[in-house]
Amino acid sequence: MPDRNPQYDAIIIGAGAAGLMCAISAGQRGLKVLVLEHAKRIGKKILMSGGGRCNFTHLECGPENFISTNPHFCKSALARYTPWDFLDMVNRHEIPWHEKTPGQLFCDRSSKDIVAMLAEECSQADAEIRTSVAVSAITKTDPDLLINSSIGDLHTKKLVIATGGLSIPKMGATDFGHRIAKQFGLKVLPLRAALVPFTLPEQELKLWSELSGVSLPVTARSETASFQENMLFTHRGLSGPAMLQLSSYWEPGENIETNLFPEKEARQWLDDLRQQRPRLSLRNALVQELGKRFTELFCKQRLAPLASGDENLADLNRDQIDHILQQLEHLSWQPNGTEGYRTAEVTLGGVDTDALSSSSFECKTVPGLHFIGEVVDVTGQLGGYNFQWAWASGWCAGQAL
Ligand code: FDA
Repeated sequence: MPDRNPQYDAIIIGAGAAGLMCAISAGQRGLKVLVLEHAKRIGKKILMSGGGRCNFTHLECGPENFISTNPHFCKSALARYTPWDFLDMVNRHEIPWHEKTPGQLFCDRSSKDIVAMLAEECSQADAEIRTSVAVSAITKTDPDLLINSSIGDLHTKKLVIATGGLSIPKMGATDFGHRIAKQFGLKVLPLRAALVPFTLPEQELKLWSELSGVSLPVTARSETASFQENMLFTHRGLSGPAMLQLSSYWEPGENIETNLFPEKEARQWLDDLRQQRPRLSLRNALVQELGKRFTELFCKQRLAPLASGDENLADLNRDQIDHILQQLEHLSWQPNGTEGYRTAEVTLGGVDTDALSSSSFECKTVPGLHFIGEVVDVTGQLGGYNFQWAWASGWCAGQAL
C-alpha cells in the first residue's frame, strides 16, 4: 500500500522555466516541494534560448505582447511578478546582462547562468528536484491527487503541471500537460507551432533559395498583424524576427506582404534620386538600399519583364515606376506552411484560461490542480515575453499553493 500521508505539500511536473520558478516561490513560503522532470537535466529550453544567451525578459512587457483567447487572463500575473522582479534576482546573483534592443535583456555570458541561478534558488528554498522521472498517470483520489511515477506512487494535495508546449520534441517537449487537462475535462484550445520560420512552395523556393543567409530590414504584414524587423532567407523559405513574429498571427492560405523600405517612403526616394542622379541605373540605385545579392534576384524575379534593372533612372516610364514601387512596398509571398514544432520557439493555444483562476492558476473544477507556463493558452511575442510569462505564472502559482 502506498503511503497516503503526503510527503510533499506540492508536486510540480516539469523543471523548465515556469516549474522552477513555482518551486522557488512555494519553497520560499516554507512549503515542502518536489519537482519531477523526465529529462536528464533541468531547464533545457532555457539553455538553448536566445542563441545560448537567454533573452530572459523584456522590460516593456504588457498584455498586448501576448496572444490568448482571453487577452485579459495574463494581466494579473504580469502585474504581480514584473520583469523588474526577475531582474532583481538576476542582479542578486551577479549575472552580467545587456539590453540588445530597448527593453530586451540577454545574458552576457551564457544561458547556463540563468539555469544555475534557478537551481541555486531552489536549493536555498529547500525545493527538491528529481530528474529522469517518468510520470505514467495522475488520478484524483479524494482528498489527494495520486501520481504514478518511476520513483513510486506519490500523493499530494497540490499538483502543478508545468510541462510546457510542443516545440522542439528533441529537447523533451511532450503533450503531457494537454493530455492531463483533457483527462480532467478541461478544454484545450487548438495547438499550433508559432515563432517559427515559413516554408515556401517548391517553385518559389527554387527562385529564392540562393539568397539563403541574406537578411533585410522590412515591414512584414499578414492580414491581422505587422512587424518591422529583419527578414532572413533560408534554404526552406523565410525566417528572421519579422517572419517569426508574423507566424504567430498568420493563418494557412494567407499571403504575406513585405515592404522593403520600412524606414523611408520609396516614391520619395526614387523621385529624389531621379532628380539628383538621372544617369544612375535602377540596379545600382537598388543595390545601395537592398544589397547586391538581393537586388540581382529581385530585378530578375519581380521587376522583369517590365524593367530589367539596366535602365537609367531618368528613362523609367510611369508604368515601370508604378511596378517598381509596388514590388518594393508590397512584395508578396505565399508560404505553404511553417517548419512546425521541429524549429518553433513556442506553441499557440493550450489549456483554456476559462478553466483556470488568473491569480492561482488552479482549475476551477479540480481543486488542487494547477497549470502554468506555456501549456496554458497564453503565448508571447518574440523578445523575452515567453520567459516573463513563465516566471510570472510560476511565481503566482507558487504563492497560492
Ligand atoms: P519549458 O519547456 O521551459 O519546461 C517544460 C519542462 O517540462 C521541460 O523541462 C520538459 O522536459 C518537462 N516535461 C515535459 N513533459 C514532461 C513529462 N511528461 N514529465 C516530466 N517532465 C516533462 N522565450 C523567451 O522569452 N526568450 C528566449 O530567448 C527564448 N528562446 C527560445 C529558443 C528556443 C529554441 C525555444 C524552443 C524556445 C525559446 N523561448 C524563448 C520560449 C521559452 O523557452 C518557453 O516559452 C519557456 O521555456 C516556457 O516555459 P515552461 O516552463 O512553460 O516550459
